[in-house]
Amino acid sequence: MNIDKEKPTALITGFSSGIGLAYAKYLASKDWNLDLISYNKSRAEEALLELNHARTNVYLKDLSKPESIMELTQTIQAPDLIVANAGITKFGEAGSFTSKEKKDLFYLLCNGVIDLIEAYLPEMEKNKNPRIVIISSIGAITPMPKSSIYAAAKSAIHSYGQSLSKEMSQKGISVTVSLPGYVRTEAHKKAGLDHLKEKVPGWMWIEADQVVRETEKASLKGSSSVIPGIVYKLVRPFLQMSLANRLWNKITRRKS
Ligand SMILES: NC(=O)c1ccc[n+]([C@@H]2O[C@H](COP(=O)([O-])OP(=O)(O)OC[C@H]3O[C@@H](n4cnc5c(N)ncnc54)[C@H](OP(=O)(O)O)[C@@H]3O)[C@@H](O)[C@H]2O)c1
Repeated sequence: MNIDKEKPTALITGFSSGIGLAYAKYLASKDWNLDLISYNKSRAEEALLELNHARTNVYLKDLSKPESIMELTQTIQAPDLIVANAGITKFGEAGSFTSKEKKDLFYLLCNGVIDLIEAYLPEMEKNKNPRIVIISSIGAITPMPKSSIYAAAKSAIHSYGQSLSKEMSQKGISVTVSLPGYVRTEAHKKAGLDHLKEKVPGWMWIEADQVVRETEKASLKGSSSVIPGIVYKLVRPFLQMSLANRLWNKITRRKS
């Protein structure tokens, strides 16, 4: 194992780009050991070069499959910090996805995150300052037309994280769910939604680094949730109101 036992270890899923890579860079700058997981080999190799951190172990696994989580949790020791970040955006009308597509997406964004976390809870409890960070989405608390399965999975994992945070506070494990809005990453391009970069106003986009900084701050404080970016913090109280929601969808050009 490529680790220094004096230093804390983080397990990050989806490290090869976007928020996951920004998280890996941030923790590398703080001298952490890193267990990094993603699926695509060439993207992982590129990210590793960019990261340039010696104490790193990389695992290539498809996290939409339960057996991948089982294999990983049998291989990697309980970390001090889990960053459950891996994910994709799927865009399409309700009814347009096959059962397998829906099942895989839900496992990647929700059930697999639960399986990963729960495999480690008993051992993490014994660590010094154990923390869990779940990257959900602002879609967990606002409707996302044509991304209903994505929003449902993000909502379910948000709810799980909120309950787990309360339950684990007695055991000394900090659990924080982060709910980012639009973040400049590869996610939209991969989902065929590159046009959103033109359509959604510039002031609504935040950088992955900012998501990491604000999420880490909230996690170290023991907050159960965080919404990165001032714009999203300001609109959050109004997101459940239908008038505010119509306005929101208009600004972001999402048709309901
Ligand atoms: N960007 C946004 O606007 C935004 C907003 C709210 C929430 N989020 C959430 O933030 C998280 C990170 O997304 P991002 O925006 O940083 O996107 P990204 O740049 O596309 O990165 C996604 C990461 O997840 C990995 N991944 C995807 N599917 C995987 C699978 N089946 N098995 C293993 N790894 C997989 C990718 O690895 P590969 O290289 O192997 O594909 C990549 O490392 C996601 O959960 C996303 O839903 C993003």
